[in-house]
Amino acid sequence: MSGDPAIRIAPSILSADFAALGRDIAAAERGGADLIHVDVMDGHFVPNITIGVPVVQALKRVATRPLDVHLMIEEPDRYLEDFVSAGAHMLSVHVEAVPHLHRTLTRIQQLGALAGAVLNPSTPAAMLEDVAQVLDFVLVMSVNPGFGGQVFIPHTLEKIRRVQALLTAAGSSAPIEIDGGVDATNIAAVVTAGARIIVAGQAIFGSGDAEAATRTLRAAAGSARG
Ligand code: DX5
Ligand code: ZN
Repeated sequence: MSGDPAIRIAPSILSADFAALGRDIAAAERGGADLIHVDVMDGHFVPNITIGVPVVQALKRVATRPLDVHLMIEEPDRYLEDFVSAGAHMLSVHVEAVPHLHRTLTRIQQLGALAGAVLNPSTPAAMLEDVAQVLDFVLVMSVNPGFGGQVFIPHTLEKIRRVQALLTAAGSSAPIEIDGGVDATNIAAVVTAGARIIVAGQAIFGSGDAEAATRTLRAAAGSARG
């Protein structure tokens, strides 16, 4: 009933009430959230501006689950140390934003966090081929990043399968995280395709009851088989 324990649900606070983040995070945690997904946007790499290091520091004080910080910013190397010090347990950078991906990933690990690489919908899985051995996780975007509440791009299912094949061929057991437009109607499909960390913003915080919505998502994920 509770679904596959290997599936982790990561509510994205982008759709939470920014005036009541502590309350909303607590609700998602009561519903069984495994991680708290934090979307950092700079108005350059993506068109939207959200939050930065001080908010991550504040979230760290209230969240009881690890913080999964997704950087949608230009020149993320300048801020890795600040975000890890602020409390990021997982830290991901877009492959489109860094010229030296191997260096960036290993730097995140040296700082003490898990390092993830993010692929935009138009970026091929093959971009990860030569860093597969150092990745702690891969984040596959299923919308063009910048906003919550967008529609899931169906081709993403094929992308997840390609990333999974690439990781398997490299001998990596790094999990695949999926982010964008995931809800109770498509979560089973993304899990079947190979995703193991499921980000959901609107489906959880847009529902009016984050606790129940988190439970519903996990139950729907549990109906997947693959
Ligand atoms: C999009 C963000 C996502 C977003 C997901 O740029 O990276 O994490 O908050 O929100 P939903 O689930 O509403 O698409
Ligand atoms: Zn995100």
